[in-house]
Amino acid sequence: VEAIQPVALKHAYRLMNTGATVLVSAAHAGRSNVMAAAWNMPLDFLPCKVSVVLDKATYTRELIVASGEFLLSVPCQAQAALTAAVGTQSGRDMAEGKHAQLAVQTFALPGVGISAVEGAIGWLACRRIAEPHLENTYDIFIGEVWAAWSDTAVFKDGKYLPLAQTPPARRTLHHLGSGRFVVPGDEVQG
Ligand SMILES: Cc1cc2nc3c(=O)[nH]c(=O)nc-3n(C[C@H](O)[C@H](O)[C@H](O)COP(=O)(O)O)c2cc1C
Repeated sequence: VEAIQPVALKHAYRLMNTGATVLVSAAHAGRSNVMAAAWNMPLDFLPCKVSVVLDKATYTRELIVASGEFLLSVPCQAQAALTAAVGTQSGRDMAEGKHAQLAVQTFALPGVGISAVEGAIGWLACRRIAEPHLENTYDIFIGEVWAAWSDTAVFKDGKYLPLAQTPPARRTLHHLGSGRFVVPGDEVQG
């Protein structure tokens, strides 16, 4: 095992394959924003709950704390550059807002007061379940999903279609760090 070497602890998390990167959107008092989040995880079936790590410096987190809600959009390969862009530039100091500045196209989902990212493959509307300890100590935010939608060309009847039927451009993005993503290439039966 001479080829085994230590991994710097600041990079150890990269050994863990991440689920699909999501875009986290929030709005409050006429301000809206969107950021990328690779550190996300489903938490429960029903009521459906999810979690996402939101750094204290993010403007999105501030809007979520103020409004009590957020919207997740699941981007695809065609949106890799957009995902990296909204994930590297904070909207906090963008006078026109991040959507306008980075040309993020959005649309309205029924009953949702936060604009959804157009061209994504799925969307989850979440109400924040306030957990101050988790938020302050670990930056973990928990949301109860009260509605969800998908592009039926990719995800239909409660599941992803066979990968072979999904054009590469519509496949999910899995972050490797440093703006590199893996896009699923094979489906195997376990
Ligand atoms: C692919 C990708 C994944 C990211 N994942 C996270 C994450 O899980 N949590 C986080 O706090 N920031 C994450 N970031 C960084 C934020 O998206 C970044 O700080 C962003 O500029 C925050 O925007 P805001 O200040 O406009 O809210 C990620 C960035 C990229 C490019």
